[in-house]
Amino acid sequence: MPATVIVGAQWGDEGKGKIVDLLASESDLVCRYQGGPNAGHTIVVGDEVYKIRSIPSGIIQGKPSAIGGGCVIDLDVLIAELDGLQARGLAIDGLVYVSGNAHVIMPWHVSIDAARERKLGKLQIGTTRRGIGPAYADKATRIGIRVQDLLDPKILREKLELAVAEKNVWLERVYELEPFDAEEVLATCLAHAERIRPWVADTSLLVHRALLAGERVLFEGGQATLLDLDHGTYPFVTSSNPIAAGAAVSFGIGPNRIDEVLGVAKAYVTRVGEGPFPSELPAAEQAHLRELGGEFGTVTGRERRCGWLDLVALRYAVRLNGMTSLALTKLDVLSTFAEIPVCVRYVLPDGSETEEFPAHQSDFHHCRPVFETLPGWETALDGPELPAAARDYVRFVEEALDLPITLVGTGQSRTSVLAFG
Ligand code: GDP
Ligand code: IMO
Ligand code: MG
Repeated sequence: MPATVIVGAQWGDEGKGKIVDLLASESDLVCRYQGGPNAGHTIVVGDEVYKIRSIPSGIIQGKPSAIGGGCVIDLDVLIAELDGLQARGLAIDGLVYVSGNAHVIMPWHVSIDAARERKLGKLQIGTTRRGIGPAYADKATRIGIRVQDLLDPKILREKLELAVAEKNVWLERVYELEPFDAEEVLATCLAHAERIRPWVADTSLLVHRALLAGERVLFEGGQATLLDLDHGTYPFVTSSNPIAAGAAVSFGIGPNRIDEVLGVAKAYVTRVGEGPFPSELPAAEQAHLRELGGEFGTVTGRERRCGWLDLVALRYAVRLNGMTSLALTKLDVLSTFAEIPVCVRYVLPDGSETEEFPAHQSDFHHCRPVFETLPGWETALDGPELPAAARDYVRFVEEALDLPITLVGTGQSRTSVLAFG
């Protein structure tokens, strides 16, 4: 696996962090390619529980960790995260690389994210309110502040004054919020600059050289396929490209440098925030699965919406990412069910049936799932082999996707995973 992308195959929280942590032990460099502190990855190692948001999950294994130009960074969060890991005895010195092209989430991005959601009311997206959308919007408008800007006080002052002047008009007139003082923000940024200066690197060259030297590089996506800005369930998406192609864009390597794409999917589905979700359980029936799976957000603590595995959406994710294999996580969570429904196709509003993900939003918003019911195994997955019915469940998914499933998650801890196939 010289260059492998690890990508969420559903709406996030599939257990990417755990899989990256597992594979990092055999890797030389781990690279986070998009998103920011909207991500939350929980990694359980023995009695230790780590919550990671900005830094690649490989840091727990002590691996060199790079944050690519396609990411947005809240420096308070990143610095606190690294300080927290160091305080717990993890090595970080000399292991952290941050692209100078990554954009900085400024305090007004966080204010605007929250204010816009409040204003949208019933129409809100249900964002994590971490400033992700407004930061990427400023990147596209070309008034964003990049990590490299922080290292040059003159450039930083110029860019900040421009940004603050514009943002304050929006904050005061549109959102009725307090304006920011450019000098105060400048002072905070300069303090941050001193902390991050040693980490700033040319991450494109770093990855290029690692691949030339035959090193094993893991690219870790935040969020997931159905939250992709271009291919997800727009507008109920995030503002970056979590799909595998995003790795090449973020790190400035050719797409042909990527050898493998490992998708990560739960054995069922969850979604945080608003937006369509065809295989979602009726509200009254969600609590049981939510409790079994501990489905509460790492970043916001929100209840995750829960539903059965959706093979139509998963097949779409296989296609969009060019997946070469899949890790199916949290199979243990289904262990008490006598029967397990799986969505195999959709009925569209015109009454026709399809196994393909609808290209038009109205079809997706109004489709109905068709379930096939598989037998449960009703026994704990704590042995070295899966019980027959659990193996059949995994085989059923493999056949429906025409894709090998290579890893099966059987519990929270680093060691609770079985090789499959
Ligand atoms: P990520 O954002 O994709 O990294 O996923 P999260 O960490 O937000 O959410 C996944 C949750 O499931 C975390 O609490 C993990 O510790 C947990 N988890 C991961 N794999 C498994 C598994 O196979 N079984 C169980 N029971 N929990 C798992
Ligand atoms: P990880 O990496 C689950 C969702 C939010 C919201 C939408 C837009 O842990 O899988 P944003 O703050 O990005 O503008 O919110 O995307 N969302 C996630 N859902 N897991 C995540 O990350 C998410 N990151 C964003 O709930 O619906
Ligand atoms: Mg998560």
